[in-house]
Amino acid sequence: YTPKILAFAGSTRKDSYNKKLVQVAANGARAVGAQVTYIDLRDFPMPLFDEDLEKEEGTPESARKFKELMIAHDGLLIACPEYNSSITPVLKNAIDWASRPGENEPPLAAFADKVAAIMSASPGALGGLRGLVTVRSILGNIKVIVLPDQIAVPKAYEAFNADGSLVDPKQQESVEKLGANVANVVAKLKA
Ligand code: FNR
Repeated sequence: YTPKILAFAGSTRKDSYNKKLVQVAANGARAVGAQVTYIDLRDFPMPLFDEDLEKEEGTPESARKFKELMIAHDGLLIACPEYNSSITPVLKNAIDWASRPGENEPPLAAFADKVAAIMSASPGALGGLRGLVTVRSILGNIKVIVLPDQIAVPKAYEAFNADGSLVDPKQQESVEKLGANVANVVAKLKA
């Protein structure tokens, strides 16, 4: 079985450290045979979730496409910046849209039983660790199996090489391993 993994960052910023970080993890998953789809949430611009908007205009195309991608994959690699010690609005909004019930699909079809690894990068000394507490809690409550291991990369402005890899080889290896772990757990669950 080839694990299918969706990788994205909770940042739409062009030079996002978290986009770089999640792509290191994605390469780690590819190295153990997973099929990884990397997406940029900037390509899925969703209005701020509003129940009236949902009722009156239906689910926006971008949110529908994002949810379909979530459903089509077994595993998730998510790198999310910490905003005021919590999740970013862009990630929470995408999760909220994708969590809405759809026709002919089980509840929480985009999340239930997916295996996820979460990580963060920040210019700060804690690497965005406090935000991951929230990300883990939200995903766990919507039935995602979030792996115990996580990585927070501090001083992100000096943590990456120009090619997107991490300067510290040990850190590079840990992030690749985190990505590989998701692929390996998915493969075991599907066996
Ligand atoms: C931040 N940033 C930040 N960093 C941190 O370590 N802890 C925090 O609580 C916050 N809070 C925060 C709030 C808001 C509104 C912004 C815009 C930023 C800084 C943040 O880590 C930094 O901008 C990162 O570079 C964002 O991640 P990307 O976009 O580089 O992936």
